[in-house]
Amino acid sequence: MSFEDTADPTTDTESLADSPAAGLDDTTTRRGTGRAVIAARGIDVRYGDTQALSDITMDIPEGMVTALIGPSGCGKSTFLRCINRMNDLIDTCHVDGELRLYDKNVYDDDVDPVALRRKVGMVFQKPNPFPKSIHDNVAYGLNIQGYDGDVDARVEESLRAAALWDEVKGQLDESGLALSGGQQQRLCIARAIAPDPDVVLMDEPASALDPVATSKIEDLIDDLAEEYTVVIVTHNMQQAARISDKTAVFLTGGELVEFGDTDAIFENPDSERVENYITGKFG
Ligand SMILES: Nc1ncnc2c1ncn2[C@@H]1O[C@H](COP(=O)(O)OP(=O)(O)OP(=O)(O)O)[C@@H](O)[C@H]1O
Ligand SMILES: [Mg+2]
Repeated sequence: MSFEDTADPTTDTESLADSPAAGLDDTTTRRGTGRAVIAARGIDVRYGDTQALSDITMDIPEGMVTALIGPSGCGKSTFLRCINRMNDLIDTCHVDGELRLYDKNVYDDDVDPVALRRKVGMVFQKPNPFPKSIHDNVAYGLNIQGYDGDVDARVEESLRAAALWDEVKGQLDESGLALSGGQQQRLCIARAIAPDPDVVLMDEPASALDPVATSKIEDLIDDLAEEYTVVIVTHNMQQAARISDKTAVFLTGGELVEFGDTDAIFENPDSERVENYITGKFG
């Protein structure tokens, strides 16, 4: 059974948004379906003998922005890479526990990591367009998957969704590397969403960008959450508070200390350690 075969057709976010059973109370959230798209259960990660994550259990809600925050080295990137099995590419890395995307454990033997990564796209800190044209960057995943629709139309749709179309529509055959840093990052976002993933992972996607480019990416994340589930790592607390619906606070030792509504975490955290971290007393 391939990974795609396991996808539940009822997980389409649009149809869920319309369905009466799906909604949380509209007054408490402007989006989201009330359903978990990712369910981590007892995730432990080691690099050789170094424990990077300890017993992480959390449900990431569909159609929302979830921010992962915490001091350097607490395992935020490691956790993101568990979700689309990028850690498989690191020889010393060993993952235990269960991580379900909808109802399927992504660590089951029958899951193809390449197919999984189309369902769970990723955007990195440093924009990393391929040395190819703008068009071919966005079409890359579509071509690999043997997309049978109109590739050019999907490229345009993805560039529009990444708020880049108007800036590049006359130069689709030019190299993606010739764009500015902020444009390159939006190109990478277009590439990640072209195969219509369930989830978009972002690891500090704006930290290498200037304030104007950062603000564009933040606006874009807000738009993306209309259609996708976004999980973003950020070191910028204000950014987490501005753009996310849920926040997970990881602390040293690879521990998930608190996870909940962003407003509650920032205004009234349960634990003193989290309060100390977000008020800058340590970290
Ligand atoms: N490829 C690797 N090989 C060995 N150890 C690693 C590797 N990647 C991460 N680690 C270790 O795992 C722990 C968690 O690292 P990770 O990169 O996930 O933290 P992070 O929270 O993303 O940090 P930062 O905020 O600095 O990006 C750290 O102790 C780190 O040294
Ligand atoms: Mg990191």
